[in-house]
Amino acid sequence: MATLPKELISAGIAGVGAYLPNNIVTNEDLEKTVDTSTEWIISRSGIRERRIAPATMASSDFAVAAAGKAIADAGIAGEEIDLVIVATNTPDMVFPATACLVQERIGAKKAGAFDLAAGCSGFMYALVVASQFVSTGSYKNVLAIGAENLSKIIDWQDRKTCVLFGDGAGAAVVRPAEPGSGILAYKLYADGSGGKHLNLPAGGSRMPATHETVDNKLHYIHMSGRDIFRFAVRATARSAAEVLDMAGVKVSDVDYFIPHQANVRIIEAAAKRLGLPAEKVLSNVDRYGNTSTASIPIVLAEAVQSGRIKKGNHILMVGFGAGLTWAAAVLKW
Ligand code: UT7
Repeated sequence: MATLPKELISAGIAGVGAYLPNNIVTNEDLEKTVDTSTEWIISRSGIRERRIAPATMASSDFAVAAAGKAIADAGIAGEEIDLVIVATNTPDMVFPATACLVQERIGAKKAGAFDLAAGCSGFMYALVVASQFVSTGSYKNVLAIGAENLSKIIDWQDRKTCVLFGDGAGAAVVRPAEPGSGILAYKLYADGSGGKHLNLPAGGSRMPATHETVDNKLHYIHMSGRDIFRFAVRATARSAAEVLDMAGVKVSDVDYFIPHQANVRIIEAAAKRLGLPAEKVLSNVDRYGNTSTASIPIVLAEAVQSGRIKKGNHILMVGFGAGLTWAAAVLKW
């Protein structure tokens, strides 16, 4: 349906929304079920509590709730959405795409829909992909969603992972923006050689589900925390510096930094390397843990809705995760 435009159109975020399940699980709760301590979890990760979904809810349920808020925030109707992109590590099913389930439920009758897999960087990838369709004039309203039901793929006996993750979703409507505003620069990165450090081994075509894979807990998240930690600090700081340079935005001109919410120590170390003061760093990892693809859009939605992020602000966002992948973008709000 699209014709090639003479000039690219600026793409920005016109609406945001988040959904968190009500059920709060605290560190004290986890102390009762696994060999850990509140002190260890807070000092090593900064996480105090996380939201955990009921057994009856799946990622599309979260995605629909977050998308509904983002669509309302953008002041449009569901049927005006042209494309739905869902970034998730926990699709409702292997197929069909969770995005198609969302497309139907939000009434986006004319929209295309697909899922995108880029580990915890998924929302950043989805945002950049969405902006391509808007910038070329192909589409006006593209929905980028990060939605996770990680509690369903966690081994609740594995203290190395079960204390870290939480459930939730965040969504953004990407639309044409005023020239000079919206997404100023972005870059997507990957290094498949590090894929072994964070994965869910079974259930795909390499290792289909068998009684043995279930008995060996191969349908759960497996992670080498230290390797991911080292990669995350380096990748976040370097990619942030690179996109700021591409955009011609000085570190001192950044109003808010929204990094992936995996660990407060990663966030603080990356901010320190960049020379960003604490008051410019937005974080909610203490309340929600690591919600993977949902973490950045949840922080964004909370900061926009509380009035913290204002028109004209420069926002720096960086995601990282399984793949390995990482991705950074600078926006003028
Ligand atoms: O979204 C992207 C994916 N994930 C990440 O970004 C995670 C990145 N990594 C991290 O955030 C950190 O590496 C962790 C929070 C996962 C771990 O912190 P750490 O300071 O790197 O600890 P460690 O893995 O080096 O473990 C230190 C010790 C170990 O004991 P030993 O071997 O030294 O005796 C662990 O067995 O802490 C032990 N440990 C725990 N102790 C109490 C690991 N998990 C726990 C726990 N409670 N929950």
